[in-house]
Amino acid sequence: MLWFPVDRTSSKALTSQVYDQLRQRILSNELIEGAKLPSSRELASQVGVSRNVVLEAYDRLLAEGYLEVRPQSGTYVAAGSFFPSAAGEFHRGGAPAGLPSSNPRGGIDFRAAHPAADYFPRVVWGRLAKEVCMHTPEQAFGYSGAEGTAELRHVLARYLSQARGVRCRPDQIVVTSGATQALHLITELFSSKDKPARIAVEDPVTDEMRTIFAYAGASLLPIPVDDKGIRTDALSLEDRPDLVFVLPSHQFPLGGTLPIQRRIQLIEFARHADCFIIEDDYDSEFTYEGVPVHSLQGLDPERVIYVGTFSKILSPALRIGYAVLPDRFIERYRTLKWFADRHTPTLEQLILSRFMEEGYFDRHIRRMRKIYRKRREALVSALRLHLPEARILGQSAGMHLVVELPDVQFTEALMTRIQAAGVHVYAVEHYALVKGNHERQIVMGYGGLTPEVIQEGVARLAEAIRAGV
Ligand SMILES: Cc1ncc(COP(=O)(O)O)c(C=O)c1O
Repeated sequence: MLWFPVDRTSSKALTSQVYDQLRQRILSNELIEGAKLPSSRELASQVGVSRNVVLEAYDRLLAEGYLEVRPQSGTYVAAGSFFPSAAGEFHRGGAPAGLPSSNPRGGIDFRAAHPAADYFPRVVWGRLAKEVCMHTPEQAFGYSGAEGTAELRHVLARYLSQARGVRCRPDQIVVTSGATQALHLITELFSSKDKPARIAVEDPVTDEMRTIFAYAGASLLPIPVDDKGIRTDALSLEDRPDLVFVLPSHQFPLGGTLPIQRRIQLIEFARHADCFIIEDDYDSEFTYEGVPVHSLQGLDPERVIYVGTFSKILSPALRIGYAVLPDRFIERYRTLKWFADRHTPTLEQLILSRFMEEGYFDRHIRRMRKIYRKRREALVSALRLHLPEARILGQSAGMHLVVELPDVQFTEALMTRIQAAGVHVYAVEHYALVKGNHERQIVMGYGGLTPEVIQEGVARLAEAIRAGV
């Protein structure tokens, strides 16, 4: 019989409690791989919760790869969902050439990673900005610590723990000028004059992030990605990376979510190779099916440097991001931040912490999730209508998806024709270090486009493609 306590007085939802209890037992190998779980009805009566609570927890564990359903048999613990070398260590609880362009262009631009600027919460932000400006004590107008304001780091630590399963104290957080600076400083942290950092990067991956590493002098080791994310079987100890850069919640561009087995393999690799993992969690708030998968950092806070940003949730114009660091790196990282720009602007941090503290942030995320879901649906249905042969990858999260057309190669000539039709889409090949594996795929971002514009853009795209066939 499987039993564990649930706390009805806790503010934590019963589903999350059941999910956590099961997840921890699986990760620590208490519930061994291949073990059959009780039916949802049985577990519900053993633990004393409703069947729906158990069903939801099972669904979440299924989506994350901890469980598998065997038809006509039941639900089982999936293989590879625990740490083979250190079950006891699992903590319980709790394009180098030039700059990427950011110039706005004419036409319909399916640029990925552009949030809906028309929904920026101007009124609330403006009111909070005024209040902060008028009432903040004078010392806030002097220099502050390189790590950022205590207010923001406190509210952020709480948010990250509740929403992303990140395990950290506020003093492990350093507020940066976007994820861009966070990644630049991490590269510096791992580089010395005679030894540039060696960074294993997903391939394909966002060129902007890759360029940051290259610009800071790192040498890059491409690791292939499939529809689930980084292919951990392709990591080699012989490559001796200092860092592995991953987007486990929502790979860019291919859109996969890394299943638990690969998360464990990745952490095991880092432990054996004595290297560190950078987890860039840039848009996980926008998950449209189920609950966002917990962070990788929560599985091993000593091996993972977690990087986040407010660029997708709110606006890239804020230039606020952060790194959550293992203890051993905090001091040196703060020093690097100090030498980079002393600190990120204080008033913006104070406005943001009030925005989060007063509940506007959660509300904004809920609102934006609905808007992006609608925009995604508009894109998917326009693709089904105009390009019915398209295969759509990574469609249930974030603000972009990948379109694969079995009989079309997105050559330069075709991309030029598409642009001439007044549409900008992005070839996955453009993001690849090793060329030749993604010629039939394009990335389409939808965050910054209304459903009407999306429909028009896809119609033009289909016409331009057909004109060349
Ligand atoms: C993977 C990824 N992470 C993070 C960011 C955000 O960077 P920043 O916080 O500097 O705006 C981007 C921006 O495009 C991105 O593509």
